[in-house]
Amino acid sequence: MTDNLINDKEKFFNGWAPYYDCLLTTVNYQAIHQRLLEYVVLEENAEVLDLGCGTGRLLNRLAEKEPTLRGIGIDVSREMLRQARARNQYRERLIFIQGNAASLPFSEKQFAAVFCTLSFLHYPNPQQILNEVSRVLSPGGRFYLVDSCIKEKNISNSIPWVGKIQLYNQQQREQLGREAGLKCLSHRYLLPKVLLTILAKPEREQETVTSHQLKIGLTHSH
Ligand SMILES: C[S@@+](CC[C@H](N)C(=O)[O-])C[C@H]1O[C@@H](n2cnc3c(N)ncnc32)[C@H](O)[C@@H]1O
Repeated sequence: MTDNLINDKEKFFNGWAPYYDCLLTTVNYQAIHQRLLEYVVLEENAEVLDLGCGTGRLLNRLAEKEPTLRGIGIDVSREMLRQARARNQYRERLIFIQGNAASLPFSEKQFAAVFCTLSFLHYPNPQQILNEVSRVLSPGGRFYLVDSCIKEKNISNSIPWVGKIQLYNQQQREQLGREAGLKCLSHRYLLPKVLLTILAKPEREQETVTSHQLKIGLTHSH
């Protein structure tokens, strides 16, 4: 079932890819990327990951701002990746690979930061994504989640061609993060209906306790 949903998304985005950076959509997305950069904190030589990277615009922008940054973009859509590779302005530092954000082919603690802009709403298994993000983040690393958010409403909808989408309010984002062992640092609106949530992996492993750990009594007081 999940595989079918992912295949449908891939088909939809394959069709959109050649037009994705056209004026109508890109003006909005570029403004969001630009505002996001104001909140990003990275050290030298940071390795970062972009989930659902699309045509790779965000990673190119990050690489321009941070001359020692190395980045990997992952996306299910082969046509989006074709665009990203063709427009890659930092080939020695940025690569784009095909894959599903729910099952990341990377090592534990590999990345100083993970980004996900305007893509999370398409994922059928949000908790699995957060768990994967938490796994690949290094201690102290940050997850920058940017997506539509209509006030405090919980929106789940099925749109012709696009398929199912799900929007998460602030509390739901915090809860998903908590379950994965990530702590919410802040929420900021980048545009009136587009919310950035910054989640952080604790510096030390036992700084946060998930509700699963509480249930099975795996907490330590020392
Ligand atoms: C609206 S685009 C956003 C692209 C880019 N992040 C941006 O800010 O412009 C959503 C992207 O998410 C990708 N996507 C959807 N589901 C995915 C999944 N399960 N794993 C990886 N990528 C996915 C799509 O192929 C598409 O490129």
